[in-house]
Amino acid sequence: MTATLDLSKFQATGVETCFHDRHIGAQIYADLNGSNWRLKDYEARGGYAALRKILKADGGEGLTQDQVIAEVKGSGLRGRGGAGFPTGLKWSFMPRQFPGQKYLVCNSDEGEPGTCKDRDILMFNPHIVIEGMIIAAYAMGITVGYNYIHGEIFEVYERFEAALDEARAAGLLGDNILGSGFSFQLHAHHGFGAYICGEETALLESLEGKKGQPRFKPPFPASFGLYGKPTTINNTETFAAVPWIIRNGAQPYLEIGKPNNGGTKIFSVSGDVERPGNYEIPLGTPFAKLLELAGGVRKGRQLKAVIPGGSSSPVLPAEVMMQCTMDYDSIAKAGSMLGSGAVIVMDDSRCMVKSLLRLSYFYAHESCGQCTPCREGTGWMFRVVERIANGLGRAEDIDLLNSVADNIQGRTICALGDAAAMPVRAMIKHYKHEFVHLIEHKTALVAA
Ligand SMILES: Cc1cc2nc3c(=O)[nH]c(=O)nc-3n(C[C@H](O)[C@H](O)[C@H](O)COP(=O)(O)O)c2cc1C
Repeated sequence: MTATLDLSKFQATGVETCFHDRHIGAQIYADLNGSNWRLKDYEARGGYAALRKILKADGGEGLTQDQVIAEVKGSGLRGRGGAGFPTGLKWSFMPRQFPGQKYLVCNSDEGEPGTCKDRDILMFNPHIVIEGMIIAAYAMGITVGYNYIHGEIFEVYERFEAALDEARAAGLLGDNILGSGFSFQLHAHHGFGAYICGEETALLESLEGKKGQPRFKPPFPASFGLYGKPTTINNTETFAAVPWIIRNGAQPYLEIGKPNNGGTKIFSVSGDVERPGNYEIPLGTPFAKLLELAGGVRKGRQLKAVIPGGSSSPVLPAEVMMQCTMDYDSIAKAGSMLGSGAVIVMDDSRCMVKSLLRLSYFYAHESCGQCTPCREGTGWMFRVVERIANGLGRAEDIDLLNSVADNIQGRTICALGDAAAMPVRAMIKHYKHEFVHLIEHKTALVAA
C-alpha cells in the first residue's frame, strides 16, 4: 500500500501489478503479488498505521469517534456492495449510546454473477479488511464483529482466519487493542452458498443460524440487526478503503475520484475481453480506458453491449457505454447501475436472448421463495425467455415479459425481485429486434 497514490504511473503504464489473470491498477485496496498478505508485509506497506493513529498508540495523534466518522463522510466513500450508499452517513446512523451489544458485519458473500473482487482482497490483502473493520468498530463503539464469507471458497475463509490469528497475536485485535482500552472481537463466518444471503438482512438471519431470507424493513439493521441489536453492515471493499482514508485524509481520497464518487474502485471485468480480471481504477475513469486495460474486445471484434455493475444491472449498448465514465452517477445517468462493479463485456457475436436466458435462469434459481411476485415471476420469466430462445415464442411474449417484470419490480421484500426484473426490461428495451426475429423466424439473429 503506497502512502500517496501515484496516478501518473498508473496512467502511463496502465497495469502496475499483475498476477495470474488479475490486473490491478492504482493500489489502495490490494497491493497484490500473491504472497505478501502476511501481517509483516502489510505493516511494511504502512498497514495498521491508521489504527495506531486513531488509538493514540505508538505516538499516534488519537481521533475521536466523531472525527473518524467525519473523515469517512468527507471522503465521499460510497458502499461498494451494490447500492453505493454513503458509508460515513451509514456509520452515523449507529446509535452509539445504546447500552447493549452492538455488532459490525462485513458482507463478503459476493454472489453477484461477474463479481470476484472481495475474494481477491481477502485472499491477498486480508489485513486491510481487518484494519478497516477495527477502525469502523472504534468509530461506532462496537465490540463484536463478523465477516460473512462466501461459502464455496474455503481457501479465502482459511486465509482470513490466518490473518485474524496474526492480528490477535500482535495485540491488534481482541482485548485492550494496543493498550488503548478499546476491545474488539472479530470472527469469520462461513456463508451458506446462496445469492440471497448477500442481501444484508438475509445475511443476518443466516448468521443467526436461520434460513437466509430477507427481513421486512424498517426496522433497518442500524436499530434492529443481528440478534435484534444495532448493527452496521458494509461490503468487504468498503472496509478495505477505510485505512487509506484515515492515513491520508478525506480530501485526497475524494480527489482521486470525482465529486460524490470518492476514491478508487475495483472492477471485475469479464466476458469478451482479452484480459479478464480485477482492475482498481479511480472512479470517474472513462469506460474506454477500462476496456483498454482489459486488453480490448476479444479477437478484435466489435463491442456490442456491457452489463456495467453485475448481472442485476441493466445492460447498456456499446455506443452509450463508450460515453460513460466508471462512477455511480455517470452509469445511473445512462440508465443502469454501477452496482458491485462487475463489468460484463459482450461482443457482436452475442445473442441477447440467450444472454437473458442465462441471467433469468440464475434469478429463478436464486429466488428465496418468500415473496410471491419473485417466487412465481422469476420462474415465469425464465420459461418465457426459454421458449423464445428455443424458437417457440409467441407474438405476445414480449409484452408478457415486460408485464411480469413490472409486477415484480418494487413489490418484493428485498431487491432480488428488482435484480431479476431489470435485466429483462433492459434487454427488451435495447434489443427488442432480436426477440422479435426469434419469434418470427424461429432462429436467432445472432448465433452465439
Ligand atoms: C439479492 C442481493 C444480494 C446481495 N449480495 C451482496 C453481496 O454479495 N455483497 C455485498 O456486499 N452486498 C450485497 N448486497 C447488498 C447488501 O444488501 C448491502 O446493501 C451491502 O452489503 C451494504 O454494504 P455497503 O454499504 O458497503 O455497500 C446484496 C443485495 C441484494 C438485494
